[in-house]
Amino acid sequence: MKIRFAAEAKAEIAAFVLDEGGKLPVAAHQFDEASGGLLTEAASTGRFSAKAGQVAVIVLPKGSAAKRAVLIGGGPPDKRDGRVLERIGGSFIKSQGASGFKTASFHIGDAEMAAQIGAGMRLAAYRFDAYFTKKKPDALPSLNGVTLISDDTKAAKAAFAPFDAAVDGTYFARDLVNEPPNVLYPASFAKRLEALETHGLEVEVLGEKEMKKLGMGSLLGVGQGSVKESKMAIMRWHGGKKGEKPVALVGKGVCFDTGGISLKPGAGMEDMRGDMGGAAAVSGTMLALARRKAKANVVGLVGLVENMPDADAIRPGDILTSASGQTIEVQNTDAEGRLVLADVLWYAQTHEKPKAIVDLATLTGAIVVSLGHHHAGLFTGHDEMADALTKAGQASGERVWRLPMGAEYDRLLKSKFADMRNIGGRAAGSITAAQFLKRFVADDMPWTHLDIAGVAWVNGEKEPTDPSWASGFGPRLLNQWIADNYEG
Ligand code: BES
Ligand code: ZN
Ligand code: ZN
Repeated sequence: MKIRFAAEAKAEIAAFVLDEGGKLPVAAHQFDEASGGLLTEAASTGRFSAKAGQVAVIVLPKGSAAKRAVLIGGGPPDKRDGRVLERIGGSFIKSQGASGFKTASFHIGDAEMAAQIGAGMRLAAYRFDAYFTKKKPDALPSLNGVTLISDDTKAAKAAFAPFDAAVDGTYFARDLVNEPPNVLYPASFAKRLEALETHGLEVEVLGEKEMKKLGMGSLLGVGQGSVKESKMAIMRWHGGKKGEKPVALVGKGVCFDTGGISLKPGAGMEDMRGDMGGAAAVSGTMLALARRKAKANVVGLVGLVENMPDADAIRPGDILTSASGQTIEVQNTDAEGRLVLADVLWYAQTHEKPKAIVDLATLTGAIVVSLGHHHAGLFTGHDEMADALTKAGQASGERVWRLPMGAEYDRLLKSKFADMRNIGGRAAGSITAAQFLKRFVADDMPWTHLDIAGVAWVNGEKEPTDPSWASGFGPRLLNQWIADNYEG
């Protein structure tokens, strides 16, 4: 679906945003008069009170300049943050996207607001239906595009461009998470990343042979029970000053997580096709940065494996040697994400020399219990980084919530046989997972871990801007954080 900006447009649907408790906007007056006051009537009868995202549809009389008028609740004007604006755009698409009409004009005075509403429209228009062979025609989207009409078309267009790029990143991340695990496995994932070179990214892919040479026994241990070859992909965006250290983004890419020999229960296991959500977030961010030609140096690294039970799979009790040299007693083969990240974090520091690292991973079921589906868990010892990421989360609508770390939690990883074990016991499962990762990051490295297990996908009810199973969480948050902190 295409988003356009213009000073006026002829379209089948004419949509208007109303302030909660406010009057019909001036742009709507001609339709109101031509229909004998139907818009005024719709704005003040029934339960429509212009709460953010409410929709009222008015059938216009024959001969009107449009076939339908649509009123969208804008909520109180002073409460219109990024999330609300996106919801306004998203609600419109949810209600009119498959209405049978092809064209719409959408009137909103403020150019900056128009841009973020346009982003909300695109987020809501996402579909993942390539695998249906029998589609019901009346369920298919009909709207080809929306023309946003604001008081400054040029400013709205310019403001939309970075949002548009970020949404491209979200789409890419959603596609990767939604894809079934027989289609998206480490090698095919890496192929899709190599295709990003057309956008100006530099992409390098390492296979098992190269990773063995590097001593990445922790990541390779997870993949050894799978017939699919493990991969690590490195994506570089050089948009900043030459020689300036990059920001590193590291992602967990477990293309399917059966749990391994510590096998997961059968019910709901299909969700584990999304266990590469961290890698998808990193990949989507890299695409967003390239699409808007970000003025920063950023490197994205993803560890791509499949966690399968097999005669050759790692066992509880096995001791793995990571690339950092530290040894790990595997007590549960289902705590595999941290084993993958340990080696990718090591590689990021030793080979890319970053000035800061953020890792993203669908790491623990415990974070879903703690925060549900509305915030990712944030773990760091770096207060400034925590604040900057929290702020970027509020602005982008992809929110994070900080949890504590500390030596008391780290102690729970003690092993009788190796430098550490890969689980901490029942208590504070998300925190001990973060403490495990911290052992693979230099003490003076600004580093933050985001546990996105609760937000990468949601099976229940969701916002109109999140229409498929995969949310595509990450690119909008990280893109915002980089724009605010590393492009000055
Ligand atoms: N991929 C899972 C975490 C997960 C669970 C993500 C639910 C999304 C939804 C991870 O690899 C895992 O299995 N973690 C274990 C760790 C435990 C064995 C210490 C968990 O959370 O149960
Ligand atoms: Zn697992
Ligand atoms: Zn996992």
